[in-house]
Amino acid sequence: MSINPDLDHWEARFASPDYRFGKAPNEFLVRCKPLLPRSGKALAVADGEGRNGVWLAQQGLDVTSTDFSPSAQAKARKLAAENNVSVTFIEADAHEWDYPPEAFDVVAEIFTQFSTPEKRPKKWAGMRRALKRGGLLIVHGYTPKQLDYGTGGPKEIGQLYTRDMLERAFGDMRDVRIVEEERELQEGPGHSGLSAIIGLTARKP
Ligand SMILES: C[S@@+](CC[C@H](N)C(=O)[O-])C[C@H]1O[C@@H](n2cnc3c(N)ncnc32)[C@H](O)[C@@H]1O
Repeated sequence: MSINPDLDHWEARFASPDYRFGKAPNEFLVRCKPLLPRSGKALAVADGEGRNGVWLAQQGLDVTSTDFSPSAQAKARKLAAENNVSVTFIEADAHEWDYPPEAFDVVAEIFTQFSTPEKRPKKWAGMRRALKRGGLLIVHGYTPKQLDYGTGGPKEIGQLYTRDMLERAFGDMRDVRIVEEERELQEGPGHSGLSAIIGLTARKP
């Protein structure tokens, strides 16, 4: 037990050796492949068991993978080794981490909807700061309609993403594209079934 109940919750979820969100990358991230640079640095925020960070490394990027769960990062290290890629792992809270300024060509935030409306701006400001000019931001998560499906994600409506929320946070960036859709996801037992999702890509001006 730690003094952080959120961390205890995630540590318990990652206690078994299976990969709760699978070993394959998130399908929206894979669809972003044409936008990725051929080389450069990528940050995978709250990357959990590492499926997305490992995939980004397989695309030739120099990846930093953050998460606050040591159990998740142990599995992520194993996944990187299985795939013969090198990834830098940093144990960090997404709201508190000192995001290095203009350090990354790609910042990807996939299914990290643990942030309350009060804490989310700090995470998103850090992610923006960490992007180089012209760098690619990828954000992906569930919309409030997901509460009807119950196939993954948080139950608190304020933690789910809407088009309006993403436009307010990132609408001033370049090449902003927001895709809202309903799709069948099979991303481990944690995200499985018909899902209401939203994804954003944008570049830092
Ligand atoms: C739904 S999982 C998604 C993991 C990964 N992004 C993926 O798509 O497979 C959410 C992740 O957020 C992490 N997490 C939760 N709260 C966090 C926090 N405050 N700071 C950093 N990581 C956090 C959990 O440990 C977990 O790995």
